[in-house]
Amino acid sequence: MTLAAVRSRVVLNPQLEIAGGRQLSGELTVSGAKNSALVLMATCLLSRDTVRLRNVPPLTDITGMGEMLSSLGAQVVRKGDVLELTGDRISSAAAPYELVNSLRASFFCIGPLLARMGMARVPLPGGCQIGTRPVVEHVKGLKALGAQVTIEHGVVNAVVPGRGHRLKGGRIHLDCPSVGATETLMMAAVLADGETVIDNAAQEPEVVDLAGLLIAMGARVRGAGTPTITIVGVERLHGADYAVIPDRIEAGTLLLAAAITRSNLRITPVIPEHLGAVITKLEEAGCVISHDGIGLTIEARQINAVDLRTQPFPGFPTDLQAPFMSLLATARGTSVITENIFENRLQHVAELQRMGAAIRMQGNTAFVEGVPRLSGAPVQGTDLRAAAAMVLAGLAADGITTVSGIEYLDRGYAFLEEKLNAVGALIRRVNAA
Ligand code: EPZ
Repeated sequence: MTLAAVRSRVVLNPQLEIAGGRQLSGELTVSGAKNSALVLMATCLLSRDTVRLRNVPPLTDITGMGEMLSSLGAQVVRKGDVLELTGDRISSAAAPYELVNSLRASFFCIGPLLARMGMARVPLPGGCQIGTRPVVEHVKGLKALGAQVTIEHGVVNAVVPGRGHRLKGGRIHLDCPSVGATETLMMAAVLADGETVIDNAAQEPEVVDLAGLLIAMGARVRGAGTPTITIVGVERLHGADYAVIPDRIEAGTLLLAAAITRSNLRITPVIPEHLGAVITKLEEAGCVISHDGIGLTIEARQINAVDLRTQPFPGFPTDLQAPFMSLLATARGTSVITENIFENRLQHVAELQRMGAAIRMQGNTAFVEGVPRLSGAPVQGTDLRAAAAMVLAGLAADGITTVSGIEYLDRGYAFLEEKLNAVGALIRRVNAA
C-alpha cells in the first residue's frame, strides 16, 4: 500500500471497535522492524550514493522520518516496501523543529549530520507519554568525539572545530545502555578520524541491524550486539542494498494475541534470538512454542501467572511490558511486573482496571491478580505499546471494547486490525463521534 493510501486510513480521532471472546487460527506475517528502519534511514546522510532499504513497514513514523530527511535535502522514494534514500545533495544541517517534535527518531540525524557536514542544529526531541527521554548520553558521546555541543532554546547546536570539520575517534562510556545514544554515536564514528570504542553499548537487535548496514556501506564496525563496540573511521561510505530485520516487538504482540485468546497461531518471519526473554516467559506461563527455521508456532491453553522485570536487551523488553500485562490480567494467579526502563510506562494499568483487571500498584511495580474474564469497555491507548495492549485485552474481553488513541498504534503496527481479522478477530476502525 502506498504511503498516501496509508495516510488515507488515518481518519480523525480513529478508534478500533473489538468484539471479544473469539478464538484465532491461522498464520500472521510480521512486518519490518520500525525501530530498525527509522535509524537505518538516517544513514543516507552518511553517503552520496543511494541506500536501498527493503522490508520497510508502511508506518506513519516512517513517513515522518522521510519528510525530515527530505527537509535536509535527501531524496526519499518509496516503492512498495522498498525505500530508496539518496544523500548526494544535503543542503541543510538544521532539522526543522516541528518535524523533530512530532517524531523523536528524527534526532537520529544529529550523528550523521555531524559526521558528514561537521555541524548540526537539531531540536531536543523532548519527552513523551512514557518519560522524559533525555539525550544526555548522545551529547556526552558526541563531545568525546571532538564536537562542541551547546543547547540553547531547546535546540542542540553541534559543530566540529578545526580544519576539515572531521570528528576524532575516542573512547566513550555510556552511563546507561541507551539504544538511541549507541546508534547515534555509531553513525557519528564511522567517518571519524581514528578508532572509537563505545563501552556499555546497547545490545538490541536494532543496533546489530544498524551495524550490518554500516558495514555493507563500507564502515569498519566490530562488536555490535555486545557491550563494547569498536569502530575504525573511514574516508567515505558507499551505498548499499539492505533488508530490515523483522519487527520483534510486533512478533511478540502477535504471539500475545494467540496467548490471550487461548489460540494456536503461526507467526512468521521471526528470528527467535530476538525474542528469547519473551518466548521464555510465554513458555513459563504455559504456552507451547516451536520454531521451524522461519517462523514460530504458538499453542496456548491455560495461562499461569509469571513475574516480569523489564531490562535492556537481552532482558525482557520494555516495549512488550504493557501487551504482556494484558495477558497476565487473565492468567491464573498473581503476577508481579516491574518497569525498570521508563519512569512513566504503567498508564495502561488504569485502562485495564476499567475492563475489570485486578491490579495493585506500588511505585514502578504492578501486582496483577488474574481474573477469569475481562469485560469490554471504552479505553484509551496512552502510547504506542499501551494501545496495542488494549487491543489484546479487547480480543479476550466479554463484549465490545472501543480503543481510542489509535493514531499511536498506526505509528508502530502496520495494518494490525487487518492482520488479526484475517485469523478470526472481529475488529473494525470507526470514527469517534
Ligand atoms: C528506543 O528508544 C526505542 N525507540 C524505544 O521504542 C524503546 O522502548 C527503547 O529504545 C528501549 O528499548 C526507537 O528505537 C526509535 P533509550 P530510546 O535511549 O533510544 C534512559 C517503541 O515503543 N536514557 O535506550 O529513546 C531513558 O530515559 C519505542 O517502539 C537516559 O537516562 O531508548 C530511558 O529510561 C518506545 N539518558 C532508558 O534510558 C540518555 O541519555 C532507555 O532509553 C538516554 C536514555
